[in-house]
Formats: sequence, C-alpha cells, structure tokens
Amino acid sequence: MKVLFIGRFQPFHLGHLDALKQITDNLSTSSRQAIIIGIGSSQYSKTKENPYSFDERKKMIDEALQNTDIDYQIVAIPDIHNETHWVEHVEMIVPDFDVVYTGNSLVQELFEKKGYTVKEIKIKINITGTKIRQEAERLYEKLKHTRRTFSYCLSIAPLTLEINKLKKEQNAIILAHSYQTTDIMYGVADFIGDSYGLAKIASQHDAQKIIFCSVHFMGETAKILNPKKEVLVPAIAGCSLAESISAEDVRNLKTKYPGIPVVTYVNTSAEVKAESDICCTSSNALKIIESLPNDEVIFIPDKLMGQNLQKKTKKKLILWNGTCIVHEQFDRQAVDNIRAQFPGVKILAHYECTSSVTDAVDMVGSTGDMLTYIKENPAEHYMLITECGITERVQTEFPDKHIVGSCQLCPYMKQIKLEDVLVTLKNPKEEQIIKLDKDILEKAKLSLDRMMEISK
Ligand code: 13P
Ligand code: SF4
Repeated sequence: MKVLFIGRFQPFHLGHLDALKQITDNLSTSSRQAIIIGIGSSQYSKTKENPYSFDERKKMIDEALQNTDIDYQIVAIPDIHNETHWVEHVEMIVPDFDVVYTGNSLVQELFEKKGYTVKEIKIKINITGTKIRQEAERLYEKLKHTRRTFSYCLSIAPLTLEINKLKKEQNAIILAHSYQTTDIMYGVADFIGDSYGLAKIASQHDAQKIIFCSVHFMGETAKILNPKKEVLVPAIAGCSLAESISAEDVRNLKTKYPGIPVVTYVNTSAEVKAESDICCTSSNALKIIESLPNDEVIFIPDKLMGQNLQKKTKKKLILWNGTCIVHEQFDRQAVDNIRAQFPGVKILAHYECTSSVTDAVDMVGSTGDMLTYIKENPAEHYMLITECGITERVQTEFPDKHIVGSCQLCPYMKQIKLEDVLVTLKNPKEEQIIKLDKDILEKAKLSLDRMMEISK
C-alpha cells in the first residue's frame, strides 16, 4: 500500500513529525511502504509570510526525520489554482498511491470525491506555521551564539510559544538561574540571575505566581520571602550542599558552640534556614559575616566557601563539611595551563571552589559578580571556573568576549526541561508546588529577611 501525505501539516515545525507518527502508527509493519510527502506550493513560494524555497523546506524535514526509521520521499506539488482538476494534477506528479492522509478538510473532500480512501490527521499543534517560524527566528537570534541550529529552534518554538502564552494568562513570571539551559533562559524566562538577584526579584515583583527554574532550595527561598505568592518549581532538583546538612545537625552545632551565631548559605533546606540566625548568598556572604558583632561565627554548610571567606575576614569561622560536587572538581593545574596559554586572560572562580583554585584567579564571587566583572572589563579572554550555564550566558550576551578552558555541568540544575515548565503552568503536579510548614516558614523567614535587610 502506498501512502500520500498532503495538506496542512506545516513542514517547517513539528506538526509534520507528529502527523507522520500518526500515519506510521496506523500502518502495520508489513504493509508499511514508502510514504510520499507532498509539499504544496503555498508552503514554498517565497513570500513575506513563507520565506522558504522547496529545497529549504525539504532540508528541514530531512533534518527532522534523520533519526527516525520512517521510509519517505518528498515531492513538490505546485498549485494550479483549480480545485476541479487538482486531484488529477496530483496524480500526474505522484502516479502511484492508494491512501491519502491529510489534516486539511478541503483536501480530504477533493480526494474522497475521486473515490480515494482518506484518513484524517489530527492537528495537535494548533499554532500557525508563520507564528512558529517567527518564534524560531526570535529564539535563533539568541541561541545561535551557543551553536543551537535553526531546526532546533523550530522544534522548541511550539513549546516556548505555549509557555509564554500561559504565563501571561496566569499573571506568572518565570525566574531562571544562570545555570539553566539556554532554551529556558532565553526562550521563556522573564528574569535570569544569581540566587540573591532572583530572590530579590521574587520579593519585589507583583506577579501572583512564580515559576522558579532552578534547584529546589531557590524555589523554597522565594516562597519563604513571599508566603502569599504561589511558587512552583518545574522539577524537584536537589543540591549536594543542601543535602549535606539537616536541621538536627544545626541544633547539634548550636549546642556544641553556644552563643555563636549561625550564618547559613542559601543552598540549604527551609528547615536548616529555620535553625539559623541569618542567611547569605555567595554575593553577600562576607558582608553578612562582617555585619555580626561576634568574633566567632558558625558558617554552614560549604566548607570550601568557608575557607575562601576565612582568608578575607578576621573573625574565626567554624565550618561544616559540605561541598558543591560541581565546583570542587576544578583543579589548580587547569588554571595555570590556561594562564600560560592565554596571556592577559582573566580567570574568575565561584566561591564554592577550592582555595588552591581561588588563590590563583583574578576574581572570586557569585555568578552575578562574574557577569558584572566581564561586562566592565576590557579583556578579550576569560576562563570561568563554574557551571557551564554562565559560559553560555556570556557567549549569548557578550559575543565578542572569548571563553577559554572548560566548565562543569550541574546535574541538579540541568534536570529542568521546557516540558516540565509547561506542565508546571498547565497542570502542576503536587510536588511542583512549594508548600512549607507554617512554623518552619516563619522561622526561616527571619533569617532570610535579616539577609535582605543587610544586603540592601
Ligand atoms: P549564585 O548565588 O552565585 O547564583 O550560586 C548559586 C549556586 O548554586 C552556585 O553553585
Ligand atoms: Fe548545588 Fe553545586 Fe549545583 Fe550550585 S552547582 S546547585 S551548589 S550542586
């Protein structure tokens, strides 16, 4: 049996993939023969609305289908502007087919009139091709800097369009940490930032709903600061630092060191924050420690960050044994090699790196501090000792600056996908909605509010 697939399938986005799946699902493997994909000229006559030639459209389909086992051929069907003879015209171009699949009711009617069996394709993506192309172009302008292809942008355009539409309808904002993937940062996020910057936006913005694309503790922080707002996270993503310490550990530390204040890095659970005196992020940790009147301070849970801070303060820091599995991996040798290879390079490291690394760099700070440094510095080459999301932000936002050396991926941050963001807006699962025990929230809020007050 030969199948002709023609009409209303928008070959420049995923509509055709979905349609082809509907066709192949319908055919038994033994009867599955070549599918002929007919592209009508309304879809390839270069106009303002449709700027692609037949060859360009064919290439898009070939790229989209290259990893499937679909046996297909693509033919051009020029328009003759004559409904009465249109089927004969198609029969001349495609001489051998038995069944027609289409998502277009007029095409269906015309073939049925000539006695063909016509099967309907359900159009699931109900957005016009033009809108999808425009969205793909918007995405490509940003994502091309990180080597994403136009085909990739076409494939995610239906998702970003739907997410952005729902976001507006629901008076929601999407916050994305700089370690998120570029489709999230530049496709759907309203704000991109570091943990402190995003916490501040969450407290100042008047949106009723916040979708926090990041690790779970950042979503919790936003909820604690704004108990009346609805805060959701697309995935339940942990963090090695947050998992390194429990509320009971903090109570034990307070018993062991009575009267010594506990400064807690935000990369912790709400329960740990509730046991703490004050919170901090990597952008304000030193300021927070120095603001306390005591000579001794318990700093939890990041031991490496604590060691970096110890070099900058006269106060004695009592540390916990937590580490970030991403930043602890960088080694000094890589820093020395890059410095030797690229004279004039500026090397920036996150506070969570080992002190052998931070001792050899030009700047130590938060992810936000790194971006500010690059923006204000005239140097051409930079090494960023942190998660790869920052590298991609720099490539996108400062395309003239060159990043050298390698970065590391955070497996927690990279858990979040566009599809999860859509579910969070469309039909959130219980676990995506941040809910906290009232008592824990109120106590944790005190330590976060103190941080916000001092960081103003
Ligand atoms: P920032 O506060 O710099 O955004 O860091 C958060 C984080 O998780 C770093 O690993
Ligand atoms: Fe946690 Fe490290 Fe990932 Fe940041 S990079 S979220 S500290 S594991």
